[in-house]
Amino acid sequence: MSEPTRRPVLFSGIQPSGSIHLGNYMSAMRSFLRLESDYDCLFSIVDLHALTVRQEPATLRRNSLELAALYIAAGLNPERSIIYCQSHVPQHAELAWILNCFTYMGELSRMTQFKDKARQHKDNINAGLFTYPVLMAADILLYQTDVVPVGADQKQHLEIARDIALRFNAIHPGTFKVPEPDIQEETAKIQSLSDPMKKMSKSDQEDSFVAVLDSPDVIARKFRRAVTDSETEIRYDPENKPGVSNLLTILSVLGGEDMESLVSRLAGHGYGELKQEAAEVTIETFKPIQQRFRELISDKDYMAKTLQNNAERARTLAGRTLRRVYKKLGLYQP
Ligand code: TRP
Repeated sequence: MSEPTRRPVLFSGIQPSGSIHLGNYMSAMRSFLRLESDYDCLFSIVDLHALTVRQEPATLRRNSLELAALYIAAGLNPERSIIYCQSHVPQHAELAWILNCFTYMGELSRMTQFKDKARQHKDNINAGLFTYPVLMAADILLYQTDVVPVGADQKQHLEIARDIALRFNAIHPGTFKVPEPDIQEETAKIQSLSDPMKKMSKSDQEDSFVAVLDSPDVIARKFRRAVTDSETEIRYDPENKPGVSNLLTILSVLGGEDMESLVSRLAGHGYGELKQEAAEVTIETFKPIQQRFRELISDKDYMAKTLQNNAERARTLAGRTLRRVYKKLGLYQP
């Protein structure tokens, strides 16, 4: 084999804030698996970002390790992609400081996520919450990232990262690659099971989402209780039948059956069967991931070594960019 050719760089950050659910799995994890063959990927567990709201230390520690194990269990390859904790790579915080000096109060005040979070956490509107997008820009720019796959809610953050890069480059040419957003068009938008007009979210009640680590019993129960409608017809119609359509989407995507043939196969069947099939395919999808997750999480040595080794690889790449930045800025580097 010849030298592996350099591929474009992809960066993604996920907060270690508890259970990954079916919606995350379908929109993020599954697509990451495909991306891994086309890009040099970094998957960062953004534990520093998580500190912008209060965290229970033991929970944060556990969630971070579990998220790493889950990434690997879902099939990402830690020998190829760099799966690491943001706090293990000090360059993130260092570059964030520099970029703070290239970011305006005005543009940060316009961020909708800041305004939302400030409303939700009135008693803790800290400066970290305000400069969150700057740390995110640092995450991305440190690795000369080409592509950032994000949901629509992160689009504004990505735009500010680009603006910061362009502004910096205008003064110090050739410093940063300007990243392109890859807004994930939600081919399969997964809605809440208890309120199918809303997106599935882990901050909602337990019954509204299925977590990747839920046991088969729990998954089956949550699907049984899924809200549908008062008709009996199984038909794909997200406007008028959001609950049924959501179950159909899950079944179609996870079962690899196109919607049309799925709907005709289920014609005349009851909602009970639809729910049961959706539950079964979800259980089957998660089973191997859960199995692998349990192996990984009980192998503390392997996890520790893998995360240390991956952080080392990230530090090497990040160090290169940061040194270039320091030099351009005129920070004396003996
Ligand atoms: N802000 C992102 C979110 O809440 C997480 C994140 C942090 C991120 N740094 C990133 C996403 C860099 C993409 C790239 O979902």
